[in-house]
Amino acid sequence: MIKKISIAIDGPAAAGKSTVAKIVAKELGYLYIDTGAMYRAITLEALKNDVDVNDENALDQLLSKTDIKLIAIDGKQFVFINDVDQSEEIRTPEVTRNVSYVAKHSLVRKKLVELQREYALNGGVVMDGRDIGTHVLTDAEVKIFMIASVEERAERRHQENLQKGFESNIEELKKEIAKRDKIDSEREVTPLKKADDAIMLDTSSKSIDEVVNEIMSIVKEKTTNL
Ligand code: CDP
Ligand code: CDP
Repeated sequence: MIKKISIAIDGPAAAGKSTVAKIVAKELGYLYIDTGAMYRAITLEALKNDVDVNDENALDQLLSKTDIKLIAIDGKQFVFINDVDQSEEIRTPEVTRNVSYVAKHSLVRKKLVELQREYALNGGVVMDGRDIGTHVLTDAEVKIFMIASVEERAERRHQENLQKGFESNIEELKKEIAKRDKIDSEREVTPLKKADDAIMLDTSSKSIDEVVNEIMSIVKEKTTNL
């Protein structure tokens, strides 16, 4: 039997992590875990309950009474907060603007990392985020650090917005993405950083299929050598 491994995919906003991670997980029959969705979930709760995103203790208390579950139904990912489906609500611009402030706090990260590791206990997982290779799953057999230029990433988010019928401005998106990357890379606790043993993958001029194929060959090589 082929051993089920853990695959960690990290990188900045809109590098293509979740799109590619979902497809890779489906092809391998693995679980896909979007750790960003968990930080978004607690951020949404904080905004709804008027909890200051800079108040670490208040956020920690809020997290103690917030049940966050990632559930796959018919191959689609859903995020349940206290048993209510909030998959759409966690992606609003307001949550996006605030999430990196919430994600700075070590008490918040500690609780969410515990949850993330539980999902990965039996292997067979593709997990994406910012600190998966460096902290959450340091033993992951495959680690990818996915990057793309800010211009390309803003263009991708712009296209997404247009498809959804949202208003969108490329220059604003560039600023928002660059600001979030800066906070994520400069925070004290497990910042966004390439793990020493991660493979760097620049997706700027690559299609989704090309990136998926590259990762699948890395995984095949790894699993045949186990
Ligand atoms: O999909 P997108 O690139 O917009 O971001 P996301 O993966 O949903 O993550 C949202 C935010 O959560 C990031 O900008 C980080 O501030 C935080 N995050 C984190 O700190 N650590 C992770 N493992 C995942 C996300
Ligand atoms: O998860 P992350 O924030 O890293 O990015 P994403 O949400 O997976 O990807 C952002 C957008 O880029 C999506 O609309 C993807 O379809 C698109 N994309 C792309 O055009 N080419 C790639 N190689 C990867 C993603």
